[in-house]
Amino acid sequence: MKNTAVTFKEAKAKGEKLTMLTAYDYSTAKLIDQAGINSILVGDSLGNVVLGYEDTVSVTMEDMIHHCSAVARGTKEALLICDMPFMSYQASVYDAVVNAGRLMKEGRANAVKLEGGVEVEDTIRAIVNASIPVCAHIGLTPQSINAFGGFKVQGKGEAAAQKLLDDARAVERAGAFAVVLECVPAKLAERVSKEISIPTIGIGAGAGCDGQVLVYQDMLGMFTDFKPKFVKHFANVGEIMTAAFKAYDAEVKNGTFPAEEHTFKIDDSILDKLY
Ligand code: KIV
Repeated sequence: MKNTAVTFKEAKAKGEKLTMLTAYDYSTAKLIDQAGINSILVGDSLGNVVLGYEDTVSVTMEDMIHHCSAVARGTKEALLICDMPFMSYQASVYDAVVNAGRLMKEGRANAVKLEGGVEVEDTIRAIVNASIPVCAHIGLTPQSINAFGGFKVQGKGEAAAQKLLDDARAVERAGAFAVVLECVPAKLAERVSKEISIPTIGIGAGAGCDGQVLVYQDMLGMFTDFKPKFVKHFANVGEIMTAAFKAYDAEVKNGTFPAEEHTFKIDDSILDKLY
């Protein structure tokens, strides 16, 4: 059954947990979709884990459309959400609606995600009014890294905790169908999840959220530049890949690959005629 913005809200009402993983290409999207994950996010974490930038600030609309359309071709059942990159929605509501439309039309996303709470309430409302489902993202919002002064847990003090709750209420009011809570204390995330009717999808926000999201290279142990506290390696695919790359290198160099079964045949009589 196709996951949609509507089934997401129904899942929360029924108390069913939701899963989300990132993907940036066709083959990975297919594997994630076939595993029954509820949603695939083409995150602007693309900037870090695929393009090798140190933050997400440089990611462009063209990057997102390119990768989202590849993921869309590998996605059947999962709800496909595409991140709106930095400065594709901050300058004006008009830009936001036009760019969200491009991610749907050219990227073939089912929904868009953008960062911010109270300050983007009108923006979310305008995109939702254009019939584009919006997933909000509050707490640690990586596009604001230069304003935050680093990757830090959000919502710890009283004012910051109140701001997080206000942000959650604002995005719900604006019509978002779900909200990502990134790097917030578990008890606060649980409280937010109880206070709003739309599902909360946590990353570094504890088990009290209505769902969880992880970057797939993080959960597979493929991205080793750093390991945030909230990441669990469900497999060590990075080690498996390195071992396979080494085996390939050795077999090519010692002549055992390619073997007979990997090669195509030709009649010797043809070769004999060559001059
Ligand atoms: O860009 C991304 O991958 C994200 C998730 C970490 C939620 O926004």
